[in-house]
Amino acid sequence: MEKMWAGRTAGQTSALADDFNSSIHIDSRMYKEDIKGSMAHAAMLAEVGILTGEEADAIIAALEQILADIQSGALPIDMNAEDIHMFVESVLTKRIGDLGKKLHTARSRNDQVAVDIRLYMRGKCDQIQALLLDLIHAIVTVAEEHKYDILPGYTHLQRAQPIVFAHHLLAYAEMFRRDLSRVEDAVKRMNVSPLGACALAGTTYPISRTVTAKALGFDDYARNSIDAVSDRDFCVELLSAFSVIMMHLSRFSEEIILWSSWEFSYVELDDAYTTGSSIMPQKKNSDMAELVRGKTGRVYGDLMGTLTMLKGLPLAYNKDMQEDKESLFDATETVARCLEIFAPMVRTMKVKSGNMYQAAQRGFINATDLADYLTKRGMPFRTAYKTVGTIVSDCIAKGTVLEELPLEAYQAYSDLFDADLYEEISLKTCVAKRISEGATGYASVEKQIQNFKMFLGTKGK
Ligand code: ARG
Repeated sequence: MEKMWAGRTAGQTSALADDFNSSIHIDSRMYKEDIKGSMAHAAMLAEVGILTGEEADAIIAALEQILADIQSGALPIDMNAEDIHMFVESVLTKRIGDLGKKLHTARSRNDQVAVDIRLYMRGKCDQIQALLLDLIHAIVTVAEEHKYDILPGYTHLQRAQPIVFAHHLLAYAEMFRRDLSRVEDAVKRMNVSPLGACALAGTTYPISRTVTAKALGFDDYARNSIDAVSDRDFCVELLSAFSVIMMHLSRFSEEIILWSSWEFSYVELDDAYTTGSSIMPQKKNSDMAELVRGKTGRVYGDLMGTLTMLKGLPLAYNKDMQEDKESLFDATETVARCLEIFAPMVRTMKVKSGNMYQAAQRGFINATDLADYLTKRGMPFRTAYKTVGTIVSDCIAKGTVLEELPLEAYQAYSDLFDADLYEEISLKTCVAKRISEGATGYASVEKQIQNFKMFLGTKGK
């Protein structure tokens, strides 16, 4: 095939090189953005007098038709093309002749590709933001249903202090809320137009970068033309935000997998989100959560790959940068698919609050409250801590728990103990008395739920 850039060379590359060089398999998905970018460029060329109005109209009408034809399937994208930019331009030229060749005036594929990725990712980020909101909504809904259900909170995966399940879930809602704002931030910085930077140095034509930036919904144009075509910071920022989302999803997955085990038995996933074993009839596996945990590594790899690809590049454009899309799009699809499956999986999971409560009753998770009881009666905290530690160890030796140790036994450790200690160390009291802001206390958890409802409301959810 004759290359559009044939001239300096005969344009005769080996088939192997053509295939190696081509990015059409990955950038063909940006056909719409590529065409919209070209339409804005053509309109601007007419506005500043580089093309006549009729020329621009004819180009734009033909581009419009190409877009419609690709969308309807009438125009299949040629997978032998070098990239989507070349494909669209070659079809245009085939359809309208020499006029099509005028489109590339005052433009380069270097600014073109940078525009396309930004426009494409703007749409993808809208989708990811909506998915994040839906997941937050699912978490808050389940949290509200379980705002009184007590379970052990853990540190070091050892039972630590009683909490309510809603509190634990809302911790994840907070993570995803931060993720949402991370994506919003990245989009803000991404939303500047590189168009008109051309190859790297700008152009001798009297173009208007403001006009194309506005037409394409950018907030501004990139100030330095060299930076405009070399910058892939926005890819790194998005990949980093996506990696953090995956890290959060993976931690949540890990807990769901643990909670679904016989050993914990805190939740049961709906059949729709589990699989069986081909050999063991009793199995119900949390495959979706495991896959999400597994895919996290891929997304981290996409981030590391992109950072590494960029680290040694001299300014401005280098072909290495063509690799940006493979990583970015892979991470984007992965995050979207994981979020998509996570929300309904959380919404439909059965919470076994009875088992959670039972686990909370064993494991001395009210020991801190017993120490606080002594402290409030005048014993220094460190001494109270030691006294309660001894009581716990004696209880373990005797096979009993704090709630069942008789008062006389308590009073042998300290005469500060009184009959009201039992009320003080009941799990409900332990939770209710956690009154500090953001704590697990019922009032505080209610406040957190209301805060999320307001937040979701402002986002139209
Ligand atoms: N396919 C290329 C990419 O994705 C487009 C830009 C090509 N620019 C060039 N000077 N060869 O990066």
